[in-house]
Amino acid sequence: MKTGNLSVTWLEASTTDDLESSDRELTEEAIQASENAYAPYSKFCVGAAVRLDNGIILKGTNVENAAFPSGICAERSVVACAVSNYPGHKIEAMAIAARTSHGLTSEPVTPCGNCRQVIAEEEFRRSNNIRIILYGKERILIFEKGNDLLPFQFDRNSLSSLLH
Ligand code: THU
Repeated sequence: MKTGNLSVTWLEASTTDDLESSDRELTEEAIQASENAYAPYSKFCVGAAVRLDNGIILKGTNVENAAFPSGICAERSVVACAVSNYPGHKIEAMAIAARTSHGLTSEPVTPCGNCRQVIAEEEFRRSNNIRIILYGKERILIFEKGNDLLPFQFDRNSLSSLLH
């Protein structure tokens, strides 16, 4: 038997002032997007912003539904927007922010498992890293790639190895 080991490195900033300008701009867009969320049930309003390789920034929010599973998270919403409108372009970075009735969250909001899987698929099919910026009022976390948030992800290689 052997022992495996994983290690993930991230950057931590105290405020958006400490971010490099492209990260700061994307984070501010995510914060702004959180104001557009449709979250009447959870009242947890999430905004996500992506920067494409052509420099364009797109925003997404969570969109909830009375039939709960029909809702979508902000991260998948913005990935769907990017793929639908700019199919030839890679996502280079994504920032995520959330607010409640008390305002922006103190702690960074982290993507759910479904969203991590969707981010991972984009990285995999485009062979590029997506920088992930998770905003919180107390601290901001920056990961070099979505894969850092989803080790041992299920991808198309897993699918074919299971089929054969
Ligand atoms: N949500 C997101 O949009 N992104 C996340 O990273 C976490 C959760 C949404 C889903 C639901 O509308 C609400 O936040 C509460 O879970």
